[in-house]
Amino acid sequence: MRILIVGTTGTIGREITRALAERHEIIAANRRSGITVDIGDPDSIRRMYTEAGKIDGVIVAAGQAAFEPLDRLTDADFELSLKSKLMGQVNVVRFGLNAIRDGGSFTLTSGVLAQQPMPGSAAISLVNAGIEGFVRAAALELPRGLRINVVSPGWVSETLAAMGQDPSKGIPAAEVAKAYVRSIEGNETGTTIGAARRA
Ligand SMILES: NC(=O)c1ccc[n+]([C@@H]2O[C@H](COP(=O)([O-])OP(=O)(O)OC[C@H]3O[C@@H](n4cnc5c(N)ncnc54)[C@H](OP(=O)(O)O)[C@@H]3O)[C@@H](O)[C@H]2O)c1
Repeated sequence: MRILIVGTTGTIGREITRALAERHEIIAANRRSGITVDIGDPDSIRRMYTEAGKIDGVIVAAGQAAFEPLDRLTDADFELSLKSKLMGQVNVVRFGLNAIRDGGSFTLTSGVLAQQPMPGSAAISLVNAGIEGFVRAAALELPRGLRINVVSPGWVSETLAAMGQDPSKGIPAAEVAKAYVRSIEGNETGTTIGAARRA
């Protein structure tokens, strides 16, 4: 399959790329490498699809959202979160419908904070839950046997380590990547695939 991955240079995206590259052709898209895209900019998503050509799968492991206490979240914080992580991913699906071949799939990314919020996560929880709702609904309407799923990672070990926290409390990015492989190579649709550390 030809698989377009947005976010190939990230903590999770790197491992997804590694896991899929043996069996599939990967087309990379990021803000600073590969096909240049900022998912917060609708026109750049349209240009990305023109450059990528026909594809069988799209994965998004990218998108920004603000983490701040509720009383410190600004209009700009909400705008960024909605524009980038939420509408960015929604637009990757909307504008990709004509680029993706029959039976192809979209895999988006939410996160554990959708269902298990913490202080500071109001904007992130909002957009993550929105993505999961979008995926459940969009799956009902996709034409031509197209599928759509969302992976909900827990805290990633490498991210915790970079934040100076105990990595054993998270899940390694290579484990999270397996959820994306399951979405791309399996036949599920409309599913939120959890990828968190087993308690
Ligand atoms: N890491 C975690 O613990 C964790 C847990 C739950 C959910 N998640 C979610 O998983 C996704 C990936 O997380 P990550 O930790 O792997 O992120 P990351 O390490 O910061 O990597 C982000 C990747 O996406 C690209 N990117 C960032 N913003 C973009 C944009 N607006 N348009 C296009 N490409 C963009 C980056 O490359 P460029 O800089 O070149 O654009 C990079 O390749 C995010 O949605 C995050 O919220 C992460």
